[in-house]
Amino acid sequence: MRTGVIKGLGSALPDQILTNHDLEAMTDTNDAWIVDRTGIRERRVGGMTSELAVRAGRQAIERSGLDPASIELVVLATTTPDQTVPATASTVQAQLGLRSGAFDVNAACSGFIYGLVAAQAMISMGMGNILVIGCDSLSRITDYHDRGTAILFADGAGAVVLEAREQPEASLLSWNLGSDGTAAGILYADIGGVLVMEGREVFRRAVRVMVDSARAALDAAGIDIADVALVVPHQANLRIIESAASKLGVDMQRVAVNIERVGNTSSGSIPMALTDAVGKGQLSPGDLVLLVGFGAGMSWASALLRWDGA
Ligand code: COA
Repeated sequence: MRTGVIKGLGSALPDQILTNHDLEAMTDTNDAWIVDRTGIRERRVGGMTSELAVRAGRQAIERSGLDPASIELVVLATTTPDQTVPATASTVQAQLGLRSGAFDVNAACSGFIYGLVAAQAMISMGMGNILVIGCDSLSRITDYHDRGTAILFADGAGAVVLEAREQPEASLLSWNLGSDGTAAGILYADIGGVLVMEGREVFRRAVRVMVDSARAALDAAGIDIADVALVVPHQANLRIIESAASKLGVDMQRVAVNIERVGNTSSGSIPMALTDAVGKGQLSPGDLVLLVGFGAGMSWASALLRWDGA
């Protein structure tokens, strides 16, 4: 079977730290409320999407040990491209010195999983190694006078290199991709505008779609949640993660969480949390790992992978 094995991971954050105390000076909020309601203490802001994506992508390629010339495609999940045209993936490809195809994916905070599944499909059709990056610079579209959104959103990037291999079992066991465009109005940004959100409604739906999507992916592979070593959820709000984990029957020891210091980085969130978890030794070869995301659209996405030990 031809499949894409995660060989290298990378991540990148801007240098500028924005703490909850910094936000107190910008809008009517306070550290205790933010920590209690979201689990976030600080986040990083600044920089362009291409800049963060290049840093994360370069690290993933270096750690993969693969020849950069073997990378045939750059897939960049982002909802904050540098420009409307061209695709930011092309800017990233040029700055990484790659000779490959390049395209952007926009499925908001579910984007990285959409990109990963698309990349796996292309490898199964015969393509070679693929760099998949999730990156957003949400600070560029956040209104820091709006306490409903300013406390959550931030900038960051995560990346994986998929090595195309022939092996007995696929690395991607199953997936679930979905969207409900009738809910577009609860979280959006117009072109040139800032993020507008109905927080309570997003929260309510987020828990439901995460649980449903995760279950659909597990069912498609015939896997019980008890056999999953690690769940890597979109880092939107610690209470959303805890609520979804409890409904899925997973204790928090088996859930990757890094939201406390990075906030919600949209497309960057899941690959960054995965990179951090691997760095902390939370995954061993052969483990099952379940990625689960949701976001504006609404969109949702899950991917169940067998870890091959990057
Ligand atoms: N600082 C201090 N107080 C705040 C506040 C803030 N930033 N935001 C709201 N409050 C106050 C409200 O005024 C309200 O006060 P009241 O009870 O006196 O009327 C109270 O806190 C509760 O407000 P509510 O809007 O119900 O808060 P909440 O618990 O739903 O938390 C969010 C707000 C935004 C943190 C939460 O709804 C959320 O995380 N939603 C999901 C957002 C998300 O994940 N988006 C990204 C999707 S990819």
